[in-house]
Amino acid sequence: MKLAMLHVPGLKRYSRLGACAGLVLTLCLTGCEPPPVDSVQRGYRGLGMVELYSRKGLEREAALNVVPDPIAAATPGTPPATTAFKNLQVLNDLSISEMSRVMVAMTQWVAPAQGCTYCHEAANFASDTLYTKVVARRMLQMTRHINADWKTHVATTGVTCYTCHRGQPVPSQIWFKSPTPNQSAGQLGDHGGMTVPTNSIGLASLPYDPFTTFYDTSPAEIRVNGDTALPEGNRHSIKQTEWTYALMMNVSQSLGVNCTYCHNTRSFAIWDSSTPQRNTAWYGIRMVRDLNTAYLDPLASTFPSNRLGPTGDGPKLYCATCHQGAYKPFFGASMLKDYPELSGEHTPGLAATAGTAAPEKTD
Ligand code: HEC
Ligand code: HEC
Ligand code: HEC
Ligand code: HEC
Repeated sequence: MKLAMLHVPGLKRYSRLGACAGLVLTLCLTGCEPPPVDSVQRGYRGLGMVELYSRKGLEREAALNVVPDPIAAATPGTPPATTAFKNLQVLNDLSISEMSRVMVAMTQWVAPAQGCTYCHEAANFASDTLYTKVVARRMLQMTRHINADWKTHVATTGVTCYTCHRGQPVPSQIWFKSPTPNQSAGQLGDHGGMTVPTNSIGLASLPYDPFTTFYDTSPAEIRVNGDTALPEGNRHSIKQTEWTYALMMNVSQSLGVNCTYCHNTRSFAIWDSSTPQRNTAWYGIRMVRDLNTAYLDPLASTFPSNRLGPTGDGPKLYCATCHQGAYKPFFGASMLKDYPELSGEHTPGLAATAGTAAPEKTD
């Protein structure tokens, strides 16, 4: 280039700065994931139905999704747990050995550092004075409900407490209703929560709490394509589109996938050219709504105030609570197969050995 002949003082320095800026830009554009990046075609050619995998990203997800070794199976033939324990309301269909095994597993999954007394008064294990025990009982019902009634989503892979808790009392991925954002200085009009970059929606300039709208009581429909030429009282508008996209950013991020893992971008709406995973996700959305409204919301009054959100609501779950960045929790490994006590369809060993029928499930 001619520039070189102009002998502009400091030009060399500027071009070095330029090279640095270029490198930084390249790193930013690749999401700061160092190469190599692998691309895998998952759909029709020419439609960009491609997943990108970086080694660093996969290593990070793999470390988060390790299943702990199963504990020893229950001893068959022990008497019904109800003959030994006074206050069983859920595990009353198990034998003594099965029930004790569940206690040991729950401690390892939810409160390994705290131990049995995280949920129990040491002097009286039958007592329900600690809120953690009351919550844990409802969690037992919720886990069995997921495994028995949401096979459309979790298949026979199922879930255990560990799927969400991963060794800690409060799962790392939960959400609360967000307070209405204050208008930022110098801004006029309603920005609809779009100037508050939030990790859960990939820092996009989109409404930062789509969860209250779509995942809680009276959820809105996740639709942006109108089927009439003019708006006729439906929610199909640019504003609603922004809400849908915010939610979809979270869905993608929770599973560590691109939009095209589920959609054919020729039309996001059309089902028969979407991938089968979109169907599974559809059930997942209904399951999340069910778990929040039937289990977590009603527990809000049981939780102490330090567990509540900024507007006083209880903690709630979404896709990331189970998925933790993987397309299937634990990349599809089943923990449930080693814990039939949590299947919700458990045929108690005691029925055969002690000759008693299993009592009705309370959930
Ligand atoms: C995460 C909470 C939690 C932890 C940790 C926990 N438990 Fe429990 N435990 C419960 C719940 C909930 C019940 C009641 C289950 C039901 O209603 O069917 C229960 C019931 C019991 C009972 C029956 C008491 C009775 O007479 O009704 C015993 C005994 C027991 N647990 C022992 C243990 C032991 C031993 C440990 C530690 C190895 C332990 N638990 C850890 C939540 C927990
Ligand atoms: C689908 C996800 C999911 C599963 C499965 C699950 N939990 Fe939870 N659990 C949650 C969420 C969300 C909370 C609310 C977090 C909080 O307490 O702030 C919670 C809270 C709790 C708490 C209260 C902890 C505290 O310190 O406030 C206990 C105890 C608990 N769960 C026990 C269990 C047990 C035992 C099981 C298995 C029988 C289980 N959970 C299964 C999602 C789950
Ligand atoms: C894991 C699967 C999955 C991923 C990944 C995903 N979506 Fe979706 N998307 C769905 C499902 C399921 C629905 C339908 C929701 C319903 O009906 O409840 C949907 C609905 C939509 C709609 C509304 C279509 C209509 O009917 O009007 C749009 C637009 C959309 N997604 C865009 C995106 C974008 C953009 C991304 C990437 C940021 C994305 N989706 C990622 C599963 C997914
Ligand atoms: C209670 C835990 C839990 C929650 C919450 C959850 N999932 Fe899942 N999901 C699972 C399990 C377990 C599987 C594996 C099922 C199997 O082995 O086929 C799964 C599988 C999937 C798959 C199939 C992936 C594939 O490659 O076949 C998709 C897509 C998916 N989930 C999307 C979602 C979305 C979207 C949400 C939130 C709206 C969600 N899930 C919430 C537990 C959960």
